[in-house]
Amino acid sequence: MLKTQKSFILFWTLTLILIFYADISAYSQRKETYLKNGWKFSRDDKPENAELLYDDNQWESVSVPHDWAINGPFDKEIDKQIVAIEQNGETKATEKTGRSGALPWIGAGWYRTHFNVNKDFSRFILNFDGAMAEPKVFINGKYAGEWKYGYTPFNIDITPFINKTGDNLLAVRLDNLTESSRWYPGAGLYRPVKLIQTQDIALTEWGIDVITESINQELHTAALKIFISTNSNNVSHLSIILRSLSCPDLDGCYPLNYDHILSIHKTVKDVDFWSPELPRLNDLTVKLVDNITNEIIDEKNVRFGIRTIEVSEDKGFSLNGKTRKIKGVCLHHDLGMLGAAVNKAALAHQLLLLKSMGCDAIRTSHNMPSQWQMDLCDSLGLMVMAESFDMWIYPKCKNGYARFFKEWSDRDLENLVLSNRLHPSIVMWSIGNEIPEQGMKNGNILTRHLQNKIHSLDVTRPVTSGCDRIDNAIATGFAQVLDVPGMNYRTHKYESAFEKLRHGFLLGSETASTVSSRGVYKFPVTLCKNQTHEDGQCSGYDVECCSWSNLPEEDWVLQDDKEWVIGEFVWTGFDYLGEPTPYDEYWPSRSSYFGIFDLAGLPKDRYYLYRSKWSDAKTIHLLPHWTWPGREGEITPVFCYTNYPTAELFINGKSQGKISKKKTVSVNFNNGDELLDRYRLRWNNVIYEPGELKVVVYDQNDIKVGEETVRTAGKPHHIELMTDKLALLSDGEDMAFITVKIADKDGNLCPDADNQIDVEVEGAGMFKGICNGDATSLEVFTKPTMRAFHGLLSVGVISLSEKGKMRVVIKSKGLKKAEMVFDVD
Ligand code: GAL
Repeated sequence: MLKTQKSFILFWTLTLILIFYADISAYSQRKETYLKNGWKFSRDDKPENAELLYDDNQWESVSVPHDWAINGPFDKEIDKQIVAIEQNGETKATEKTGRSGALPWIGAGWYRTHFNVNKDFSRFILNFDGAMAEPKVFINGKYAGEWKYGYTPFNIDITPFINKTGDNLLAVRLDNLTESSRWYPGAGLYRPVKLIQTQDIALTEWGIDVITESINQELHTAALKIFISTNSNNVSHLSIILRSLSCPDLDGCYPLNYDHILSIHKTVKDVDFWSPELPRLNDLTVKLVDNITNEIIDEKNVRFGIRTIEVSEDKGFSLNGKTRKIKGVCLHHDLGMLGAAVNKAALAHQLLLLKSMGCDAIRTSHNMPSQWQMDLCDSLGLMVMAESFDMWIYPKCKNGYARFFKEWSDRDLENLVLSNRLHPSIVMWSIGNEIPEQGMKNGNILTRHLQNKIHSLDVTRPVTSGCDRIDNAIATGFAQVLDVPGMNYRTHKYESAFEKLRHGFLLGSETASTVSSRGVYKFPVTLCKNQTHEDGQCSGYDVECCSWSNLPEEDWVLQDDKEWVIGEFVWTGFDYLGEPTPYDEYWPSRSSYFGIFDLAGLPKDRYYLYRSKWSDAKTIHLLPHWTWPGREGEITPVFCYTNYPTAELFINGKSQGKISKKKTVSVNFNNGDELLDRYRLRWNNVIYEPGELKVVVYDQNDIKVGEETVRTAGKPHHIELMTDKLALLSDGEDMAFITVKIADKDGNLCPDADNQIDVEVEGAGMFKGICNGDATSLEVFTKPTMRAFHGLLSVGVISLSEKGKMRVVIKSKGLKKAEMVFDVD
C-alpha cells in the first residue's frame, strides 16, 4: 500500500473514532415543536391577500388538533344530497341526510398562531400531519404553500418567510366543499402541526428507512438495509453516526463521501422480531456530523421493527416466515365524541379494545392514517393496511378527491409512503377502495402506475386495492396487476375469482358490513337485507346486513375452509360519523351501524361473536338481555357467542336444550340460516318468562368450562362506573373513558334505561366528550349531559397540564350518583 494511502486511511480512522466516541456538545441541532396551544380560530372567510390585517382578538381560542365541526349542532340540512349512491347499487336519486355526519364541517375556516424561531437555525419546515381540507399556509402575510387532500401529511419549507429576530405569524385557511366526502371528514387542523428547525444541511424529513431483508428465527439474527438521506449534495465532509441501544451491531460511523444517501447492509444479532403478539421495537439515533469541525449538524431518534412480510401462492400471507390469516377491521378516522381531532389516548383506547377481541390488523379506510395512530400500532402490535384513496379520476361524490387526482395523486402517494415506511406495523399499501376505474378501459394502466409509484419508494410491501366488482376488475385486467387482489364483499364470487386469477391467494379487503344497534333486538328474528325499522335502529341479533354485504359467518367459512383466503378486514371496527346505511334517507340518523363497537366505543354483541372466533380468551356471551315486560309467553330467541362447541341453556332452572355448533356446514350460500349454526349457539324457540337466563358451556370433551347468567332487571336505581384507567399523564392530552351504567338495586344493567346523565369534573382534568352510541340522537358530544342509550353511555375526560386529582361526578335525577377520582401525574 502506498504511504499516502496509508496515512489517508489512518487520518480517517482516527477522525471517525474521534467523532464516534467524543461526546460532542451538539450546537444547534434539530428542534421539533408541536404548535399546540395559542391558536385563534374563525369561521368567517376572509380574502387571502389581506391576511395580515385581520384582528383576531374576537376569534375563538383553540388548541390543535381541533375539529371545528364537532360542537354541532346536528342539522339535517348540512350536506343534504339528492343522489343515487352508485356503490350501493342505487339507480334513482333520492334525498340523503346525515351522509357526512350532519355536523357543520362545510365551508371555510381560518387558524392563526404566533411563534418565534431560534436564530441559530437556518432552515424552517412546517409539518402538517393532515389538514381538512385544501389547506393554504401563510407566514407573515405571505403565501408559503398549500395542499389539497385533507388526509395527506405534508411539509412546507417556510425558511424564506421567517423573521429570525421576532414574532412570526402563521395562518392557515381551510375549505370544505359540499358533497366532497362519503362520510364525516371532520374540519380544520384536526391533526398535529409541527415546527421543525434545522441547519441548512440536515437529515431529510422522512429520510430514514430500515428494511429487514431476511431473518433467522433460530439464531435471532437479521440482515438489514439502512437508508439515510440528507438534503444536500455537498456532503463530502459529512458522516453519519448510528447508535442503537437495542441493536448495538448498528453502531458505527459512516462517511457520506459523495453521496447524499447513505445505504448500508448490516447483520444484527440477538434481536427480537416485531409481531402483533410481541411488538418489539428498536431504537436508532442518527447523527449527521461535520468531519472537519466535529460538530453534530443534525440528530434524529427513530424507532424501527425487524420483521419480514411476504405474500405467495405457497404460504399465503406470512409474517416472519409464518403463515397467518389477517383478522382485521376497517376504521374510519373519526373518534366518535372527539370527531376527527386526533388524540393519542383515544386512539390507544380504540386499538386496545380491538386487540382484546383478538383483532390483529386495521385498514385505514379509505385514506392516510395519522402518525400517532401508526406509532401506536407499532408499539401495541397491530398490522396495518395503509390506504390512500376512495376515488381516482371517476368521482364517487360530486366534489370529492377526483378533482385533484390527476395533478396530486403521485405526490399524495409519495407522502403516504415516505412518512410511514419506517413503521413495522404497516404490512401493505392500498391504492384505492372500490375504485370505479376497476371496470373501465385503461383502469389497469393507472393501477400499474400507482403500484409502481409505491414500489419505487418501498420495495418491501405489497400493494392492494379493494375490488367490489371483481368480474369487471378481472375483465379489465385491474385485479391481475395488483400484488394482492382484494375482494370487497361478494363472498359468492371468491371461488371463481381465485380460479381466474393467477396469484394463488385472495384477501377479503372489506368484509361483512353487518349492521346492528347496541342493546336493540327486533322480533321475529330473521336474516334480512336492507331492513329498516320505525325507530331508526338495527337488530342486535346480528342478522341484518346490506344488499351487497353479508353476515360474519359467510366470511368465516371462506377464511376457515379455503387456505388461499389470506384474511379479512371487517367493515367496521367502530361505528363512525356519517353513512347511516340502511337509514340514508331517514332523519334523524347521522352515524353508521356497521361497527363491532358503537360510536361510544361500547361493545355490541358482535364484539363477542368476533372474539369467540378470533381470540383464545374464554368468551361466553348471552343475548338478548332478559328484561322484556309484555313479551311473556312470546318466542324470544337466545344466542350464545362462545369459543366452546356446546352449551345448555336454562330459564329459571328449566333446560331449553343442550346444543352444539354444527361443524359440517360449509360454503353453501343457499343454506343461509344454517350457516350461523357453525359459529353461534342458537335456541330459536325460547318462550320468554322473566327471571334468570343461564348458559352452561362445555368443551370438546364435554367438560363444563363456564357459565353466564343474565337476569331480568328491576327499576333504575343507581349509577355504576367503569374506566379504562385511573392514572393519567399531566400533559393536557391524556384521556380516560368512563362507562356509565344504569343499574337496578342488585347491579343488573337496566337495558332500556334512557335517563338523562349529567357530568361534573373538577381538579386536574376536564370534561371532554360524551356519547351514547345512538345513531339517531341529536344531543351534541361536547356538552356534559346526554341520555343513556340502552342503559349505558361513555364519558371522556382529559387531563390538565398540572398534577393533582381529577374528580368526576356522574348524576341523574332520581338515581344514586357515582364518582371516580383519577390521579393526574
Ligand atoms: C363499501 C365501501 C365502504 C362503505 C361500505 C358500507 O362498499 O367501501 O366505504 O361504504 O361499503 O357497506
